[in-house]
Amino acid sequence: MTSAVSEKLGKFLDSANVRYRRLEWAATDAVARLKWSSRRRLVVTVASTTFAIVLALAGLTVAYVTLADLIHPLPYAMEKTAPPLSTRRLAARAQNETLGFGGIAYLSMPYRSDRQDAIELLGSVYGLNFTYIPGVDGAAITDKAKPLHHYWLRPQELGCWRAHVDAWRYLLESDFETLLVLEDDVDFDANIHDIFELLSTQMQRNRLRTTPQTQHERRTAPYGLDWDVLYVGQCSDRSNENRLDLVHIYQDPNVPSRHETFDHFVGQLQSLGIQGRNLGKVRAIAPAWSPVCTMGYAITRKGAERLILDLSYRGITAAIDIDIIRKLQQGIIRGYSITPPLFSAWRVDGAKDSDNQGLENDQTQLGSGNRNGYSHSMKTSARKQMVKLLDLHNWDDVDRVIPRRPFPTMTAEQEAEEAEEVRKAQIEQKEIDEAWIKRKLEMAQIMEQWGG
Ligand SMILES: *[C@@H]1O[C@H](CO)[C@@H](O)[C@H](O)[C@H]1NC(C)=O
Ligand SMILES: *[C@@H]1O[C@H](CO)[C@@H](O)[C@H](O)[C@H]1NC(C)=O
Repeated sequence: MTSAVSEKLGKFLDSANVRYRRLEWAATDAVARLKWSSRRRLVVTVASTTFAIVLALAGLTVAYVTLADLIHPLPYAMEKTAPPLSTRRLAARAQNETLGFGGIAYLSMPYRSDRQDAIELLGSVYGLNFTYIPGVDGAAITDKAKPLHHYWLRPQELGCWRAHVDAWRYLLESDFETLLVLEDDVDFDANIHDIFELLSTQMQRNRLRTTPQTQHERRTAPYGLDWDVLYVGQCSDRSNENRLDLVHIYQDPNVPSRHETFDHFVGQLQSLGIQGRNLGKVRAIAPAWSPVCTMGYAITRKGAERLILDLSYRGITAAIDIDIIRKLQQGIIRGYSITPPLFSAWRVDGAKDSDNQGLENDQTQLGSGNRNGYSHSMKTSARKQMVKLLDLHNWDDVDRVIPRRPFPTMTAEQEAEEAEEVRKAQIEQKEIDEAWIKRKLEMAQIMEQWGG
């Protein structure tokens, strides 16, 4: 009995097990199918959403690019016509070694021979003739020579004032009509000649002039002569809020991108109505109103006369840049500023490298050199480019141009021939030596006979 029952029971259990397994497989299968399809749904959703976002962004970009000119029109249309030949010819003088000015002067404290080296090096590389004007130690100026109200100035500011007045005097003593004045830490764009040539065409057609161009200007003055100071290297400026309409805008392929442009200049351009896509493409000429620092500016002969009259003959009221700002705002000096400017400071150690922050006598601070220097608002820094221009790999050039010649090798025959020659020469030498010894012995015998 037991065997029959147990056999039935076994069969029953087996079939139950099989049924159970089938159920389990079906369930697992269903779960797997469910997971897979929901995963696929998720992937499809994410992909289509991403695609939709990308499509929307692309659409917006296209719309922005097409509509940008409508959204951000320039406040005043730029001159579209090509300048006449006479204008272009005069502008081409910016290619000469004084950039179309009468001269270029740079101020540098006599002890900063490192900076003088750098300026002379830049001059040689970029075809510019810089004339050195020594900086002045304010404490060395005798009391009688100090201008009226000089007590407003710290000794460093007084020295700075003196050096700039010396530069203005240099213009009066020369036969120049204009002079570009730079400080010794400037950087500029490697395409400086082209940038000034373009500036010249714009200055000749400047819509901000109050008097028409004279015949004399048309013939000899690439930047016109209707200004006293032309700021091309201000640290910052702010336009006259009552006359924000006074702006002459022009496109310049060498202008730094918006991202490379110092925020302050972007802000000023925006205040003059230059927005959006136009930032990073154009420069603006505007009346100088609040230009800070004296790192780079040009003066005319009339400008030098007015500056010496108002900032020396009549006395001074503040540090030189602040004093010039006062005269500009009072309207007794006429100036323009170019934004973004064409000169910027080359910084190697932050403010501590400055010679007019009261640190000029602290020579214990060692500079880290020009290696890590930088300047802002420059598309192609002349100082960085110079290093590349002078870069030489002589041995690579030699290897590339002059193929290596193998050393001449001798055949076995030639080698044997040479060995034979050497052997003969040795024998010959031996004979000579022996003859000589023999001769010496003979001489000694003769001497002995005579001496005896
Ligand atoms: C460069 O051109 C200007 C403008 O014509 C001129 O005054 C100046 O003398 C020239 N400089 C040189 C070095 O020839
Ligand atoms: C640079 O200018 C000075 C002053 O005008 C002049 O004496 C000198 O010859 C010029 N140097 C060169 C290399 O042209």
